[in-house]
Amino acid sequence: MSTTALQSEEALLARIRKQQLIESIDHMSPVYLEGMKRILTVSADTELISAPAYYHAAVHAPSLNTFGSAISIIQDELGHAHIAYRLMRDLGVDTDELIFERDPHNFKYPYAFDVPLDSWIELIVANAFYDRAGYTLLGDVYESTTFGPWKRALIKVDKEETFHLRHGEQGMRKLNQDNSGHEALQEAVDWMFLLTVEWFGLPDDLKKHGEIDCAFPAHFDARVKRWLLEDGPCTWDDVMKRWKARGPKNEEFVGMVQRGKREMLRLLEQEA
Ligand SMILES: [Fe+2]
Ligand SMILES: [Fe+2]
Repeated sequence: MSTTALQSEEALLARIRKQQLIESIDHMSPVYLEGMKRILTVSADTELISAPAYYHAAVHAPSLNTFGSAISIIQDELGHAHIAYRLMRDLGVDTDELIFERDPHNFKYPYAFDVPLDSWIELIVANAFYDRAGYTLLGDVYESTTFGPWKRALIKVDKEETFHLRHGEQGMRKLNQDNSGHEALQEAVDWMFLLTVEWFGLPDDLKKHGEIDCAFPAHFDARVKRWLLEDGPCTWDDVMKRWKARGPKNEEFVGMVQRGKREMLRLLEQEA
């Protein structure tokens, strides 16, 4: 897309100061446009990859009913991804290329989704923790974004995320009723809690809202899903290295998303 219609930084700021929302690309400055594309990519990728990540665990649902709720959550997530990618298309991004041609390593979702959820219990904890994290971050975006189309779209996203995290919290409460459920829950929480904290990125002093009483940041052994807390804290550089290398399921989950399009193209070619 040509960038002829973009505004100057001053014109953009003047609009924001008048408390007017940014409604389209021709209200944006080059810096605003790039920033918006970057944050929308993180949001869209996170929603998209949560679908295969949750599906990996949904197949362990204990009943048809619970499988149904998991699938409806997955459907919501694909809808959320669609919203964010659709907004990016209006900003001139080739979203087909972004979704289907991008190297899995260049997707921008939290590392947590690269670590497989292998049971129904882990899916429940993911709904309680990961969806809560997403809900918190998107609530922040909703409050502070000046991009009107995204702000309005987040009203629907917010309602659905509330359903997801309730699904998680109610599920955890139910599992916690007997000893074996409690133990299994604790085992999941042991590896999933800190991955959720990492979701919020590198802490600066302003961002320290909670207290963490173990080594953090820390090394994580993704193969066995265990924190090496006995080694003491690591540096954020170590964490960045782990995030950049991506985790065990990165290629598989992105592959699940990209495979459908390739199969469809192959079918169309055969017909032609
Ligand atoms: Fe979502
Ligand atoms: Fe969600």
